[in-house]
Order: sequence, then structure tokens, then C-alpha cells
Amino acid sequence: MMRLEGKKALITGAARGIGRAFAEAYIREGAEVAIADIDIARAKATAAELGDKAVAVALDVTNQASIDACIDQTVEALGRIDILINNAAIFSAAPIVEITREDYARVFDINVSGALFMMKAVSKHMIARGGGGKIINMASQAGRRGEALVAVYCASKAAIISLTQSAGLNLIQHGINVNAIAPGVVDGEHWDGVDAFFAKYENKAPGQKKKEVGEAVPFGRMGTADDLTGMAIFLASHDADYVVAQTYNVDGGNWMS
Ligand SMILES: NC(=O)c1ccc[n+]([C@@H]2O[C@H](COP(=O)([O-])OP(=O)(O)OC[C@H]3O[C@@H](n4cnc5c(N)ncnc54)[C@H](O)[C@@H]3O)[C@@H](O)[C@H]2O)c1
Repeated sequence: MMRLEGKKALITGAARGIGRAFAEAYIREGAEVAIADIDIARAKATAAELGDKAVAVALDVTNQASIDACIDQTVEALGRIDILINNAAIFSAAPIVEITREDYARVFDINVSGALFMMKAVSKHMIARGGGGKIINMASQAGRRGEALVAVYCASKAAIISLTQSAGLNLIQHGINVNAIAPGVVDGEHWDGVDAFFAKYENKAPGQKKKEVGEAVPFGRMGTADDLTGMAIFLASHDADYVVAQTYNVDGGNWMS
């Protein structure tokens, strides 16, 4: 049985990586998906590869006019939005004495304000059309505790866990479930960038940090985007109707809470 038959999903940052894997998994489960990304060329290529159940939509989550246009285009293409995944985010790292206001503002604008104002706009749509919906935010193990070189990104992901709690409590009266997924270390282009930061700040050879974090996972290896799809399907499905304001760790055992 397909678990998301006929559902319409909007996934931010889905041109590549984890968001793309979520789009593929949702389509396998019977959904239609809007691939929303600031990299519209890549979003179009991804949507073309995923077939006629996927549509590419331009989105810059830091720009309100772009958010509004993205939602209008998604509703026009798919008819409505039943599921939102706030997946778009950027990583940054620096020792405290090197953090800049520009970098802080950029990370919070994309990772925190972007997710919050997407939640606002999509929940308004869901409330107006009635029938509830599901919102999934991408947190991280980085939101569970600070890291010496990753203050800003960690704080942005802690904010996502908190926003998931508040939005979850506020929106469940409308039948909208808001929950989050906290991945650990997930291989892909994103982590190639993380590895490059650590190569610079910890004087490691390229690939060394990746190898170390993979070996440290209790499961025995880094995660893949496909390791996360089961939780993303569950949280978007009828089975999760009674799950409210939670953040689930899917991290091979890295963090327990
Ligand atoms: N990869 C990991 O190890 C890991 C671990 C924990 C949490 N996460 C989280 O999972 C999510 C997906 O991570 P990923 O590894 O697939 O990242 P990724 O960097 O591969 O993909 C992020 C996507 O977001 C898009 N994007 C960036 N800025 C945008 C903006 N302003 N508006 C719209 N789209 C924008 C990018 O173009 C890209 O396609 C993120 O929220 C990330 O923080 C990742």
C-alpha cells in the first residue's frame, strides 16, 4: 500500500541531497512533489529526472515575495499543499573570534527565518483550505548541543527544534502536525562542504573529518539521505496524526534524547 497516495508536497532545497531523496521517496509512496530551490536550473533537472509527479519551482526562502510566489505556483501546479518539508539550509563554521555578522545573518535568514516564514505561509494555506496538513522541519544533531567551531549553525538548528515545538502546539488545533527530523552526519555534497571547513580549521587532509565522523557513529558509518526517508514518510502520513511538536533523531545512535 502506498502511504502518501494523492498527497501534494512542497519540499524546500530539494534540488539535491536529502530534499531530493525525500522527493523521490514521496513519489514512490504516491505523492506529487514541488521541488522548490534557489538553484532553479538544478531543481528543473531534478524534477525532469523524477518524472511527471515532480515540478520545479523557484524559491529563495529569505525573500517573502519569493515564498508567496512559490506557494502560488505550487498550488497552481498541484492543486493544494498537504505536506511541507522545510529542508533548505546552509552550513557555516568558524571559531568564535572569526564569526562575522554577515555570516550569522545569512545562516539565520535561511535556516531559521526561512523555515519560520515558510511555515507561516503554508499553514495559512492549509487553514484556509481546511483538512489539516503535515509540516516537517529539518533540524540536526547540531541543534542538540553546541560545537566549538560550529556556533552559528548549531544555534540555528536549536532554533528549529524550538520553533517546531511552538508551531506544533499552535497549529495542531487546525489539524496541522508540525514535527522535525534531527539527522546526524549524512554523506553528500553538503558534507563535502563541512569536510572542507574542518580541513581548514583543524588542519586535516581532505576527507579525513568525514572518515572520522563516520567511524564514530554507533551504527558504524555515516548516514545516507535514504536512511532518513522512512521517518519523512511516517511523519507525513496518517500514522503520525497523534505526533505533535516532536524532533526525532535519525542518526545511527549519535545522540540520545
Ligand atoms: N547532510 C548532513 O549531514 C545533515 C545533517 C543534519 C541536518 N542536515 C539538514 O538537512 C537539510 C538538507 O541537507 P543536505 O545535506 O541535503 O544539504 P544540501 O546543501 O545538499 O542541500 C540544500 C539545498 O538547499 C538549497 N538552498 C540553499 N539556500 C536556499 C534558499 N535561500 N532558498 C531555497 N533553497 C535554498 C540549495 O540550493 C540546496 O539544493 C538541511 O536543513 C541540513 O541542515 C543535514
